[in-house]
Amino acid sequence: MLRIAVLVSGGGTNLQAIIDGIAAGTITNTQIAAVISNKKDAFALERARRAGIPGIYMSPREYDTKEAFTKALLAQLEELDVGLIVLAGCLMLIPPEVVERYRYQIINIHPSLIPSFCGKGFYGLKVHEEALKRGVKVTGATCHFVDEGTDTGPIIYQKAVEVEPDDTPEILQRRVMEQAEWIIMPKAIDDIANHRLQVIEGTVHYK
Ligand code: GRF
Repeated sequence: MLRIAVLVSGGGTNLQAIIDGIAAGTITNTQIAAVISNKKDAFALERARRAGIPGIYMSPREYDTKEAFTKALLAQLEELDVGLIVLAGCLMLIPPEVVERYRYQIINIHPSLIPSFCGKGFYGLKVHEEALKRGVKVTGATCHFVDEGTDTGPIIYQKAVEVEPDDTPEILQRRVMEQAEWIIMPKAIDDIANHRLQVIEGTVHYK
């Protein structure tokens, strides 16, 4: 059974897709050990509570130094005994020591087709504003392993989504969530939990 920690910062719709996937049996061999949020009022914590999943507030702001926060986060993850860390709408920077300790055991969902519209400053609605400004006809979402960079780790899955003529950033964001994010993140978790993929020389291979 793969134990996972889901790290969140906001509404938690990607967390909800994981909760629902486990309940529906489309994500197998997986248990959410805890949801960790760097925002005390994140609705994602309410979603965890409703699902009977432990919710933990942890923010670098509560610690005197980055090192103290890193130590506390590593201790919390060790205590949870997780095999996978899932960044689901998580806006917190993951300390390099955590990336190193959990190499190829941290995944993220990004609301564009990496390498487009990603990197520093590209998160949430901003990603869709830039896609509309550029006039792309197709966008989508990417699930990838997390490394020391921003949105630079090995790509696991991507799913394309059509941009419609009257799209606003909000409408496009919702479509990308519904038609891409909420599909590829659960699929990646199920594949990892059932040992269907591995990283060889920085590239994801499927068994
Ligand atoms: C989503 O657009 C996701 O791609 C990004 O954060 C946004 C909010 O996600 N990472 P959620 O509703 O909190 O899961």
